[in-house]
Amino acid sequence: MAREIINVTVKTKTTDVIKIETDVLAVGYYSDGTKFNKLSNALDRELGGAISKLAELGDFEGKCGSTAVVYGNGDIGANRVLLIGLGERKKLTVNCLRKATSIAANKAVKLKAASLAVALHQGAGRKISLEAAGQAIAEGVYFGSYRYDEFVTDEKDSRLNSLDAVIVDSDSLAVKQLAKGVKDGNIIGQAQSYARTIANRPGNVINPPTLASEARKIAKAEDTLSCKVFDEKELIKRKAGGILAVGSGSASQARLIILKYTPAKRVSGKTPVVALVGKAVTFDSGGISIKPSANMQEMKFDKSGGVAVLGAMKAIAALKPAATVYGIIPAAENMPDGSSYRPGDIITTLSGKTVEIHNTDAEGRMILCDAIHYATTEKCGVIVDIATLTGACVVALGKHMAGLMGNDDKLIKQLEKASEISGEKVWHLPSGDEYLDEMKSDIADLKNTGSRWGGAITAGAFLGSFAGDAKWAHIDMAGMDMFNDKKFGVSGSGGFGVRLLTAFVMNVAMKGRKR
Ligand code: BES
Ligand code: MN
Ligand code: ZN
Repeated sequence: MAREIINVTVKTKTTDVIKIETDVLAVGYYSDGTKFNKLSNALDRELGGAISKLAELGDFEGKCGSTAVVYGNGDIGANRVLLIGLGERKKLTVNCLRKATSIAANKAVKLKAASLAVALHQGAGRKISLEAAGQAIAEGVYFGSYRYDEFVTDEKDSRLNSLDAVIVDSDSLAVKQLAKGVKDGNIIGQAQSYARTIANRPGNVINPPTLASEARKIAKAEDTLSCKVFDEKELIKRKAGGILAVGSGSASQARLIILKYTPAKRVSGKTPVVALVGKAVTFDSGGISIKPSANMQEMKFDKSGGVAVLGAMKAIAALKPAATVYGIIPAAENMPDGSSYRPGDIITTLSGKTVEIHNTDAEGRMILCDAIHYATTEKCGVIVDIATLTGACVVALGKHMAGLMGNDDKLIKQLEKASEISGEKVWHLPSGDEYLDEMKSDIADLKNTGSRWGGAITAGAFLGSFAGDAKWAHIDMAGMDMFNDKKFGVSGSGGFGVRLLTAFVMNVAMKGRKR
């Protein structure tokens, strides 16, 4: 491969921000009131009023995410001051800081800057904890600097291979708080960038066996993590009919990947064993119910749920929460072939329940139902699955939020809380017996499609019927990686779910401890 993924570091430093030597210094600027904070005022003074001039001319209003560059000219340590609009000061959130930092980091890579100093937290007020700010800023550095270009051999539009970021403040107590968050932010940011790379890799590179190798590699690097892979032989022995059916048309055999995080600390008896289950269809052609050819290349992202679980498990293994966590990833490629499963087939799934196939393109639920059932056999009290499951979910919610469904109000609330913390948005969709009724077959227990209507919800109902007595929730992230026309000018996977699932597990383990 031509290029390595950019190597990012995020650190903290107690320093005089005016004097810090860096390629880019990112400073926040508000759209309301005085706009300036202590730091931007001081910089303005050193720069002979260059920043206030910009504001006077109306070139920069501080709208959230807007940017302006002022050159250092040797008057300060930084080569450039990058002003980032943070919107209204009173409305500033940790999510705003993460996004603003992503924009700064993206710009730094574009400018071919090797160093970035971030002072965006300064002047944010007391409502935002510095620990949370440090974490979000670190995550933002990873998110915005990420590029997927490992197969680009043309050197013409090259970029630097690394970005060293440092969060700066003159107050050592503040830096200490920031540093606590940065530690977690580095772990989560790295895991998310890793997930983006795996998700972005095409179907001729990532197939069920190579995805399983990635899982093994991750488990090998962390002693708290173990990895088991069921190959086709094992899946046949165990009668995992759903996974086998979907994989039957592919030259790459299906796998069930099972990661397990076992904490070193003793776990409170009240903390449930958690299963994160992620759909990894490494390419979804639709199978015999083949998809139209337009944009079919996007279906390499049909493994994004499984990859999110992989990334989250990598982060969890390093963050070491006091909870046992399974990462269960059913992996298959959905292809048309003489050996493919076909419409009309009746499949006996791992649970013993039978499913009549009405559409081979509704394959995600066929691999997930086996994986969810497997989680119940491992005595998981909480099961959260994540999948690029239905186009209907994208029709309902668009590209900005994932659908959230489940059978337990408290679990839904916990996931909504994790969504708020992580900035990865979800929206609760309804559920009810009526929807499962639509999935009943006349000649088998279930069929794999419902009517045209409420397709995200009927798919959810189908999955929920395999969760047994567990508290179960389902995240339909179909709109998140696919149709991802450029986040901050970068196309491809955004690694959705890594931050959300990690925040969820950390909160479950801490029983909602806030910081
Ligand atoms: N992977 C697709 C869902 C999807 C569609 C994700 C578009 C992202 C964008 C899934 O396997 C699928 O094909 N679902 C069908 C279900 C239908 C046949 C009941 C769909 O949504 O059309
Ligand atoms: Mn499909
Ligand atoms: Zn699919």
